[in-house]
Amino acid sequence: MNGMRNLDEESITQAVLARQSETTNPRLKEIMTSLVQHLHAFARETKLTESEWETAIEFMTDVGHMCSSKRQEFILLSDTLGLSTLVVAQNHRKPQGCTEATVFGPFHVSDAPQYELGGDVSNGMKGKPCFVSGTVTGINGEAVAGATIEVWQADQDGFYDVQNPDLEHYQGRGVLHADASGRFNFKSIVAESYPIPHDGPVGKLLEALGRHPWRPAHLHFMITAPGYERLVTHVFREGDAYLDTDVVFGVRSSLIADWIKHPPGAGPDNQHYDRDFYTLDFNFVLNPCD
Ligand code: BEZ
Ligand code: FE
Repeated sequence: MNGMRNLDEESITQAVLARQSETTNPRLKEIMTSLVQHLHAFARETKLTESEWETAIEFMTDVGHMCSSKRQEFILLSDTLGLSTLVVAQNHRKPQGCTEATVFGPFHVSDAPQYELGGDVSNGMKGKPCFVSGTVTGINGEAVAGATIEVWQADQDGFYDVQNPDLEHYQGRGVLHADASGRFNFKSIVAESYPIPHDGPVGKLLEALGRHPWRPAHLHFMITAPGYERLVTHVFREGDAYLDTDVVFGVRSSLIADWIKHPPGAGPDNQHYDRDFYTLDFNFVLNPCD
């Protein structure tokens, strides 16, 4: 081929691909080839101007500056562009009947407190009392005895414990184990809809796109058990105003459940409640690993 001089808007793409043709890692080569082709095609298709290119560089710089050990703005960007949902969907195709996966989100921690079944994972978090119960089974209905269940959620104002720098202990999250018949139950508070953090560059972008930052009310679950694919999912609250416009595109009909409201009286824990309380029952079906 001619040397790599005098590259123009046509020949530049092939020149870059040729330059990285010695990449020894085959997967890296595949990804970088595709990335360069799509990136160049995007710039050609939109006839990207220099000032637009600069705006994009400034935006990505701001996204980076917004990141810290407590804030992952790049994940918010991926989530709000639908990339996270796409990657989850294409990596978790499951047999009919298995509980569907959805986005992980940025608020999981790996050292959440352990609770006995029936424990109160709210741990003092503000909100209306809610009793959650359910089962973990395999695709043939077999109980997944001892399955590890991690749950995490926001408070009644839509904030996760990790968003409050003054809190010294975790609230609204916990790790439990299903019993021998795959059953679990715990106490918590009612999930409410909340906006994702939108005080940074991703929030500005959403605004410029005429988009709201809200997620419908949900509980996060991560369920693991030997012999089964890890399940990362949510249970969404029926009736929520944002079920059809989740800012991160995470809603699946099969994950929507009723939070049943009960008048004041005896709760499932046999305590007396002098305010309304809620119950939620949800069955998780795990995909066996082959
Ligand atoms: C969440 O549900 O916790 C979440 C998911 C994606 C972006 C922000 C928050
Ligand atoms: Fe969430």
